[in-house]
Amino acid sequence: MNIPLVDLKIQYQNIKQEIDQAIAEVIDSCKFINGPGIEEFENDFAKFLGAKHAIGVSNGTDAICLALMALGIKAGDEIITTPLTFIASVEPFILLGIKPVFADINEKTYSIDEDKIKAKITPKTKAIMPVHLYGNPVNIDSISQIAKDHNLFLIEDAAQAQGAEYNGQKAGTLGDVACFSFFPGKNLGAYGDAGAITTNNDSFAEKIKKLKNHGRQEKYTHDIVGTNSRLDTIQAAILKVKLKYLKQWNNSRRQIAEKYKEKLSTCGQITFPEETIKAKSIYHQFVIRVPNRDKVLEKLKELNIGAGIHYPIPLHLQPALKFLNHKQGDFPNAEKASKEILSLPMFPELTDEQINYITENLTKIINEN
Ligand SMILES: Cc1ncc(COP(=O)(O)O)c(C=O)c1O
Repeated sequence: MNIPLVDLKIQYQNIKQEIDQAIAEVIDSCKFINGPGIEEFENDFAKFLGAKHAIGVSNGTDAICLALMALGIKAGDEIITTPLTFIASVEPFILLGIKPVFADINEKTYSIDEDKIKAKITPKTKAIMPVHLYGNPVNIDSISQIAKDHNLFLIEDAAQAQGAEYNGQKAGTLGDVACFSFFPGKNLGAYGDAGAITTNNDSFAEKIKKLKNHGRQEKYTHDIVGTNSRLDTIQAAILKVKLKYLKQWNNSRRQIAEKYKEKLSTCGQITFPEETIKAKSIYHQFVIRVPNRDKVLEKLKELNIGAGIHYPIPLHLQPALKFLNHKQGDFPNAEKASKEILSLPMFPELTDEQINYITENLTKIINEN
């Protein structure tokens, strides 16, 4: 059996007619840039989340960059975030001259440890940016209290959390501004690059709308220096179709996660990140922690079971961020996790037969190790 980490083909086959029609309509209209479908998707996504504004942008990395620019965070400022995430979380900081200040992860959830944030606050700190890693929302109650107490912005990196909830409220509505990626493998994925920013703040929304479109108010009147980070109209049309299925897909992922946990709990040597209290994860990734991870990964690959590592090198040890002068041991929980975590195949269409194949083989591999 060949089981990929994510199966985008099967999902496309199930909704092919609707998707093909949506794409054809954009091409027929020839309204490729800022077409009407963008606002339609933005309205649907805002409604789905319960956010006042959703602004479509070109990708999740640009979403973070534009959010920082709209908040007025600039060179010399600091933002506190997690070392266990994709590098795109902090690339925009570096490009804008903002210093990422890491706080180690919580050993149970693998997200930023709220108890380690306060010690990282300095007079230069302007924001806290937690990442809802693997689709599991962070403990927002504690983090937003710290942000309020210290007059800091709360930015959600919600790239992996479309539809995840905390205390019944959707990720993307829990801070001042939130950044989404619609990279194809995400729970809500485009057929190319795409992203969005959500906020309940009217003036941030206005600024982001200008920034993503050359700072313009009218075609050739540019109020501020912006950039071109617009959402593509074809991608918006695809996302509008796929958004209708997101709730159902996220529910399937939760059911699959339950099946995985039930079948793997008998193994004894596997542990799982915990869902944050009050949170409803959407299992963007299904992550386990195993002894001899690299060997296990190799054997899974030999069996054509797609597995991955999210992420093998924590950000503070990335060669590109060497200039931050971190060393091994600075964030021990993130370092230990990055050596032991493994992501198993996870997509809404994963069948019971596939789950059984994966869990039976994995149990065998671990017991033989
Ligand atoms: C946590 C996180 N932040 C930011 C991004 C950046 O999104 P994009 O790839 O759409 O630029 C990603 C995407 O992989 C991500 O997983």
